[in-house]
Amino acid sequence: MDIVERECEVEALKNCYASDRSEFVAVYDRRKVSKIGFGGATAGIPNYVHAFDPHKEEDRRGVVEAIKEAYKLGINYFDTAEAYGEGASESIFGEGLDGIPSEELFIASKVAHTKDEGDKKVIRSGAEVRQSIENSLKRLRRDYIDLIQIHGTYYSEDMVAAILEKGGIAEAIEKAKEEGLVRHIGFSIESQNVGLDRFLECGRFDVMQIQYNLLFQHPYDPYFKIGSLYKASEYGIGVAAMRTVTSGIFQKWIKLVNPENTFDYNPALVQFVLSCPCVDVALLGMRSAARVRQNVEICNDLSGRISIHDLHYRIAPPE
Ligand SMILES: NC(=O)c1ccc[n+]([C@@H]2O[C@H](COP(=O)([O-])OP(=O)(O)OC[C@H]3O[C@@H](n4cnc5c(N)ncnc54)[C@H](OP(=O)(O)O)[C@@H]3O)[C@@H](O)[C@H]2O)c1
Repeated sequence: MDIVERECEVEALKNCYASDRSEFVAVYDRRKVSKIGFGGATAGIPNYVHAFDPHKEEDRRGVVEAIKEAYKLGINYFDTAEAYGEGASESIFGEGLDGIPSEELFIASKVAHTKDEGDKKVIRSGAEVRQSIENSLKRLRRDYIDLIQIHGTYYSEDMVAAILEKGGIAEAIEKAKEEGLVRHIGFSIESQNVGLDRFLECGRFDVMQIQYNLLFQHPYDPYFKIGSLYKASEYGIGVAAMRTVTSGIFQKWIKLVNPENTFDYNPALVQFVLSCPCVDVALLGMRSAARVRQNVEICNDLSGRISIHDLHYRIAPPE
């Protein structure tokens, strides 16, 4: 994926806000949250998708410039996590967003619900979660974080119980919310997993961040009208899609099956996620200002949106 420098001036993000759905989704209602969000995994995890070292000055500077360009062009949703490079991504976001008033931003971060003990994963205590939020605030250079999400992959029954039980992880985040350190609470999840329904039904979360893209379409099946994106909408929960351009998997697959194919599928991958009526924010990892400009251009190009319903419709029209 080579970065193509555009010669033309890129127009700032226009008419592309999550609050298009604000009648359903309270969390993004108070302000205009941009339809594309700046994802922080590529800004912190070493060699995530591409060669990258968050502690190398040149790599770090590229992302800081990307963040500044994103804000300049109207992206105000920034999603990071303590786990992205052990705080490196949050520190880079802190630097890139420094001086911008908090009211103009929607900063989301994540707290891990487990920690490693030897080769086992054990549940973190409420006190550890609290400490993690305080550390995130320092690295992000903020008094509050708009959204703290429980950082998930796949949740076992035990993990769900530990998160929701009295004195558990959700309660520790709710306490931080009462104290004004956090504005909203969410969870992230990779798939249709046991935890998902429980989290949606419990009424304690404002945002679900889930893997949804051309390759992983289970959350939204408009033919059968089934999937967690429908369910999140029913509950009025905001949806952020992660891995919008498939975290590089689709691109690697094309290289494997057709190495001569040089067509750039990335704009269509972004448009696919933006076309889903149940997605509020499409998160995109970006390590350069040029990449940000590309994605703002794609988001502004409303002619690239498709009907996912028509795509899934399986009955051929009569001859
Ligand atoms: N469990 C979780 O909570 C979880 C898991 C995964 C992701 N997320 C969140 O979702 C965000 C997005 O997911 P992701 O970063 O894994 O994957 P992604 O956004 O699908 O892919 C990021 C990669 O795609 C490239 N890219 C982006 N836009 C492009 C374009 N228009 N043309 C060509 N290449 C493009 C970027 O390249 P460059 O680096 O060269 O700019 C980057 O390497 C994350 O950063 C994170 O905030 C959360």
